[in-house]
Amino acid sequence: MTKPIIRPETPEDVAVIQAVIESAFLGAPHANRNEQFILAALRDAGALTLSLVAVVDESIVGNVAVSPVSISDGAPGWFGVGPVAVVPDLQRRGIGSELMREALARLSEQGASGCVVLGDPSYYQRFGFTNNAGLVLPDIPPQYFMVRPFGQAVPTGTVTYHQAFSAPE
Ligand SMILES: CC(C)(COP(=O)(O)OP(=O)(O)OC[C@H]1O[C@@H](n2cnc3c(N)ncnc32)[C@H](O)[C@@H]1OP(=O)(O)O)[C@@H](O)C(=O)NCCC(=O)NCCS
Repeated sequence: MTKPIIRPETPEDVAVIQAVIESAFLGAPHANRNEQFILAALRDAGALTLSLVAVVDESIVGNVAVSPVSISDGAPGWFGVGPVAVVPDLQRRGIGSELMREALARLSEQGASGCVVLGDPSYYQRFGFTNNAGLVLPDIPPQYFMVRPFGQAVPTGTVTYHQAFSAPE
């Protein structure tokens, strides 16, 4: 496999990205099966802060989305990472990691305060995400909700994702 190229999505990529996400989450535990609709709803709402694709041999094989979150203490500049998806045939070859690292680098460059992620701690810890008792996503077991500040400060309060995350299945 050649090294993936990570770049922002273009309008021509949209249908392929939807298919990539759908295929990635088909066999995934804890998936809602509506992840591709969440991405579309974020895009339609103008709330896709980042949508990066991974391209291998001229095919899109992965995607990561980033959108703004709000925090009850009013802290500005926080974002949610996800969904992140890699096609089943090419999982566990480092593509997801490349997508995550590029998303975090771009967010940091843009002056973000930090980001949060909902997912398996054993995967996201490697990118600097940790649990933080002060920042809560309601109704979610706290071990699956993680924080990655770009500075020192982590706000305190509850986190609300964009309403696109309530997209129907
Ligand atoms: C999660 C996902 C994006 C990771 O991408 P990837 O290209 O397969 O991951 P990488 O090759 O960069 O990383 C591989 C490492 O992550 C681990 N890993 C991969 N997927 C994992 C998962 N779902 N849970 C925990 N660990 C995982 C691997 O064991 C491997 O660990 P190691 O380096 O210690 O051996 C991809 O597997 C995927 O699309 N899964 C289905 C959709 C999903 O669950 N998305 C995450 C929720 S938003």
